[in-house]
Amino acid sequence: MSKFYITTAIDYANGTPHLGHAYEKVLTDVIARYRRLMGDDVTFLTGLDEHGQKVQQSARDRGIEPIELCDEAAGQFQDLCRRLLISNDDFIRTTEERHKKVVNTLLQQLYDDGQIYQAEYTGYYSARAEQFLQEKDRVDGEWPEIYGDVVEISEKNYFFKLSQYQDWLIQYVKAHEDFIFPRFRAKQVIEFLKEPINDLCISRPKERLSWGIPLPFDPDYVTYVWFDALTNYISAVGYGTDSFSEYWPADFHVIGKDILVPPHAVYWPIMLKACGIELPKSLLVHGWWLTAGRKLSKSTGVVVNPLDLIDQFGADAFRYFVTREMNVGQDSEFSLDLFLSRYNSDLANDLGNLVNRTLNMTGRYLNREIAAQTDGDALEQEVRENWARTRDEVIGLYEEFQFHTALDRTFAFIKSINRYAEQRAPWKLAKSEDPADRELLGTCLSVMAESLRLATALAAPVMPGITDKVAVLLGHERAASWQEELEWSTVLSGNTLGEPTILFPRTNSKKS
Ligand code: MSP
Repeated sequence: MSKFYITTAIDYANGTPHLGHAYEKVLTDVIARYRRLMGDDVTFLTGLDEHGQKVQQSARDRGIEPIELCDEAAGQFQDLCRRLLISNDDFIRTTEERHKKVVNTLLQQLYDDGQIYQAEYTGYYSARAEQFLQEKDRVDGEWPEIYGDVVEISEKNYFFKLSQYQDWLIQYVKAHEDFIFPRFRAKQVIEFLKEPINDLCISRPKERLSWGIPLPFDPDYVTYVWFDALTNYISAVGYGTDSFSEYWPADFHVIGKDILVPPHAVYWPIMLKACGIELPKSLLVHGWWLTAGRKLSKSTGVVVNPLDLIDQFGADAFRYFVTREMNVGQDSEFSLDLFLSRYNSDLANDLGNLVNRTLNMTGRYLNREIAAQTDGDALEQEVRENWARTRDEVIGLYEEFQFHTALDRTFAFIKSINRYAEQRAPWKLAKSEDPADRELLGTCLSVMAESLRLATALAAPVMPGITDKVAVLLGHERAASWQEELEWSTVLSGNTLGEPTILFPRTNSKKS
């Protein structure tokens, strides 16, 4: 079994979960579930980034201790994972001992190696972005809004010799085509590296920021949050212990486009290189939901928080929507009208209809029992061929992270089965006394049930809840291997189907 280690970014503890966080977890979960189904031994990590100025400030504003604020946030983010059926194996918090220990080890190693030095720094500092700025960060002579108040400060700090790795990094990114996906994002990294990079200030004086991991070689300072946060990817899998090499290098760090440059594409590779640790195999960079932080309104004027849709329509519907709409790597606009229209047309209508028809008619005409499946004629032959084509294409699309197209093809197959039912018209066959028609009726309903089993098995990485429910309704126990599960078969013959149920109730978009 090959090991597969995948991570999400760890979210800031000083905010509440929003659509962007939810999407990243769903995307990573789809990949993790897909790899598990393909037989890999997957480790899926997510977590919370708990140190830094903003957490300290928010806690102070609320009159509570920073750790209380972090505990509260950890509860909310873990709850989000549960509501979204996220199958993470671990949830790391940067305030945990296991993490702090590894941050200390790295810092001490770099310090002992002479890769960290102390220097006086005079320059501009943005508390909001928690970073030092340079003249080149000004736009038209002004500091951009994102930096908030920018003040000039002079203080002693510790610096990590980032700049000496610049040429190595450029060569590395150019030579490793798979390091950054999608490929066009690698160009941004190369572009960024065209300008000389500065050494990285990795400390903050304790009097200004106390909520952080103290530097092991100077307790008057705490560690810069990015140095602290990035280390989570190795602290969670036991860096420094024997088992570390079983997990590392990670297969994918899934991140949003805003944190590629410089943290993940510059700081992180250089930190690892400087410590003699292998680099992760790949960074998978997704785009942004452009309306993520805002409440959404639909044309009727109703306003909702996108995450409320999880409770209202179910995790599978939410997961389906974000995976179907977002082309990994591009940005997307989240709209409630679009959500409702996809929900109604794809889930309630196409998938819901196939489920209802199969259960209802098998109940009414065959006493709920799936009949033996005969070869049928050209219509059935076409269904089987269509399935084989769809499955192969969809697997190829999953491999390339083209999940939106994979769902499009899977649902095209579901639609084609509804058309098959129209053509075969089992309701007409059911009226006939002719044994040949009775046999065809059994075959038709059995083909519909089999197609439903297969299509939902193929969509399992995206919609794990529904896949399981459909399997139960079909009286089916899934095969040990996914490849076997995705083969056209007669495994359902003789099964007694469950009571008809509505998996995705249609919603009247005016009321909801
Ligand atoms: N704490 C840092 C990451 C440290 S990783 C070692 C951070 N946190 S965050 O909460 O701001 O963002 C977490 C993830 O959510 C990032 O990958 C970010 O790109 C993603 N998203 C935040 N807003 C988003 C959207 N509007 N849309 C999609 N994803 C976005 O950055």
